[in-house]
Amino acid sequence: MSQSKTVGVVGFGVMGAAIAINAAGAGYRVIYKELNDELVKSMYERWVEKPLGKRVAKGKMTQEQMDEICGRISGTSDYAGLAECDLVIEAAIEKMDLKIEVFAELSKACRADAILVSNTSTFLIEKLMAKVDNQARTAGLHYFFPANVNRLVEVIRQRATADETYNALMDFAARNKKVAITVKDFPGFAINPIFIASYMVLDSFYGDDYNVATLESISQEALGLKFGIMWVQNGSGLGTCYHAGCSMQEYLRDADTGYPVMCEQLKKQFESGQPWNLEDGPVNQDAAARARVKDRLLGAIFAIATHLIEHDVVSPDDLELGIRTALAWPKGPLTLMNELGMEESARLVKVAVEAGDFKLPKKFAAGDLNPWPLKG
Ligand SMILES: NC(=O)c1ccc[n+]([C@@H]2O[C@H](COP(=O)([O-])OP(=O)(O)OC[C@H]3O[C@@H](n4cnc5c(N)ncnc54)[C@H](O)[C@@H]3O)[C@@H](O)[C@H]2O)c1
Repeated sequence: MSQSKTVGVVGFGVMGAAIAINAAGAGYRVIYKELNDELVKSMYERWVEKPLGKRVAKGKMTQEQMDEICGRISGTSDYAGLAECDLVIEAAIEKMDLKIEVFAELSKACRADAILVSNTSTFLIEKLMAKVDNQARTAGLHYFFPANVNRLVEVIRQRATADETYNALMDFAARNKKVAITVKDFPGFAINPIFIASYMVLDSFYGDDYNVATLESISQEALGLKFGIMWVQNGSGLGTCYHAGCSMQEYLRDADTGYPVMCEQLKKQFESGQPWNLEDGPVNQDAAARARVKDRLLGAIFAIATHLIEHDVVSPDDLELGIRTALAWPKGPLTLMNELGMEESARLVKVAVEAGDFKLPKKFAAGDLNPWPLKG
């Protein structure tokens, strides 16, 4: 299959629907699958008709554009309804066993040359494809929330992914006007290991000396952000943040990378059902107190970024592009390290290692203080 024309989407929730609208907007025919006929209808109303209708009412889209997109999207509650798809993107709920079964069904229902991909946030692609015939046609295609606005997609090559499959996905991403980066099958892929580590470390300081407003302001200052990491966690949902963090800890804590431990603070906040209160009092301006958090935060980000490069998960340039595009950080971690200087970066990585957040990457263990080679 060199070029997809009909795209299947399994699971028409917040991500699946946005992926479908994106593809339909790029001219693809889209067939989505939901659990039953009632959901096929209600999810379409919720995620397509209502939001696009609002865009038309606000003058952000014409009625003709909406009709064209809607005309390209249809639903089914049956895997057989996906038989003609060239590419199927799975965006069902984040449960490993369920996803393995979805792919087993797709393997039976779809053409033998149909490309099958998952939008999973945390599971290894190779595991999800265990029951698929001809795994050369499988890969990951990881979109970021909100999927029809955030331009990044990670194209994840698992060991069995064929070049033809990879090339077709890069082509699909380009036609969807996405910025695609190439990533190896690794827990959380390339972007989430950095984002998740950053909030796990930051949240662990929440308490008497550091309120939410202070942690938000430290993250804004450290990374040059308009919206800090506490704000972004609220946007993602603290439940999602908590579960994703637990999963990363489980995968990587005992691996050669190491990973921070899930802190009680995030667990409690998620269990309270409330988002972080970004206006919970005055910001702590004490320079030494702020530096303690900033050092741990940057140290963790630099350590995991170095591990990702050393594990060939992603190229240095793709990592920078991915972080800037998906997270809207003005600079990626490798650029930040180069700008701070490698001696200072090595000091910060050591802070993260001594705090037990990460194991020492080989580069720093070897005393290699060469800056990262970036094309810029
Ligand atoms: N929400 C995010 O920010 C985000 C970002 C990147 C990736 N993801 C990943 O995308 C996937 C979907 O997440 P979401 O937030 O859209 O979830 P969601 O709960 O909004 O949607 C999931 C949908 O899948 C449907 N579904 C479940 N089993 C199905 C089956 N067997 N066949 C057909 N439909 C089925 C459900 O009815 C539901 O509508 C997850 O794997 C998640 O980890 C989510």
